[in-house]
Amino acid sequence: MSAAPTTEAVRGLVAEFNDPESGRPLGDLGQVLASDASPDRIAVTVGLTSHAALLWKQTRGRIEERLRTAFPGVADVSVTIATHDRPPAKLGQIGLEAKSVIAVGSGKGGVGKSTMAVSIAIGLARAGSRVGILDADVYGPSVPHLVGLEGRPGIQDGRIVPQQLDPGQPAEPLPEGLAVQPMPVMSMGFMVPPGEAVVWRGPMLHGAITQMLRDTLWGPLDYLIIDMPPGTGDIALTLSQVLPLSGAVVVCTPQDVALLDATKAIAMFQKVNIPVLGMVENMSFFVCPDTGKRYDIFGTGGAERTAKELDIPFLGEVPIQIPIREHGDAGKTAANYDDPQARSYLESICSRLVGGLAARHAAAPPMPTLPTL
Ligand SMILES: Nc1ncnc2c1ncn2[C@@H]1O[C@H](COP(=O)(O)OP(=O)(O)OP(=O)(O)O)[C@@H](O)[C@H]1O
Ligand SMILES: [Mg+2]
Repeated sequence: MSAAPTTEAVRGLVAEFNDPESGRPLGDLGQVLASDASPDRIAVTVGLTSHAALLWKQTRGRIEERLRTAFPGVADVSVTIATHDRPPAKLGQIGLEAKSVIAVGSGKGGVGKSTMAVSIAIGLARAGSRVGILDADVYGPSVPHLVGLEGRPGIQDGRIVPQQLDPGQPAEPLPEGLAVQPMPVMSMGFMVPPGEAVVWRGPMLHGAITQMLRDTLWGPLDYLIIDMPPGTGDIALTLSQVLPLSGAVVVCTPQDVALLDATKAIAMFQKVNIPVLGMVENMSFFVCPDTGKRYDIFGTGGAERTAKELDIPFLGEVPIQIPIREHGDAGKTAANYDDPQARSYLESICSRLVGGLAARHAAAPPMPTLPTL
């Protein structure tokens, strides 16, 4: 059976699709911008936000597939994505304008949290989302080093002007309507001379994090990625008190001790009501460049198993790769995306993270207070 499509029928089908940012039907939010149908052609234009930039292609494909299934007799089905602008709400009392705030933590030190936090942020930015990075590791800030930025930030009208990171251009050109934006970066490393120790008590720590969140001129953001210090109790508590976090990503290595610490970190995030969005296994294995032989230096598959046991999404693995370390040391973490191998692992983590957020939004009850409605 293949009825000839009507413009109304096409519009109706597309309107039922969930917007990947809000999880609400596209029709409810005025995102079906145009639809046209004739017996041999369907053309639809849908508006999506830059928050969902990483899911534009996938969403377009799904809508196209749905239309082809519903109207198999139509030879030409075309779905166009256009930009739908939806500004972020002000979050919490600090008034940060961001749609998703994601903390990247672990429990154990040195497992690659900062590398993953910065890489995830850059991956989202290269897809066309507006992304900021907050280095919440006040005692051992490493984000400035990883991205090659330094110098004291300026002050404008009593607010902090963050350093801007160029995330670089993606391998494939972005769809029309999306562009790579410079990323605001804030870290205590910009305020304290390198090599100088910060000796602060708990309340000062709370104040420093709150101030960096509140007083930095972040501009409107799709994502704020927060690089957490190891053993994140204090900072996680502060964050949970000052703004609603979308959730946390927990990084670990396949080693038992790292997994144990990651399990504790997960419990800690849950205790302060920060949902855990998923687990990333870093330093999963090493493939010797000379022989192509794989070595499971810290064991294998542990994080995926632990994630399954704890009923937490597994976002993916990243092997030990010499270029990742070299790029980090050279202040060029963005270059991880210019390396096809590293890129494929990192992009897959970013996609699962954003896909998971979309699924969470779709599963959550509609929020009547969404300021953009
Ligand atoms: N997949 C990887 N391959 C190679 N080197 C890596 C990888 N991940 C991280 N590294 C390197 O390991 C070191 C530690 O990484 P990073 O600083 O990101 O860890 P961390 O968990 O943030 O540490 P800390 O607990 O001190 O904050 C860095 O030199 C980094 O370049
Ligand atoms: Mg770190």
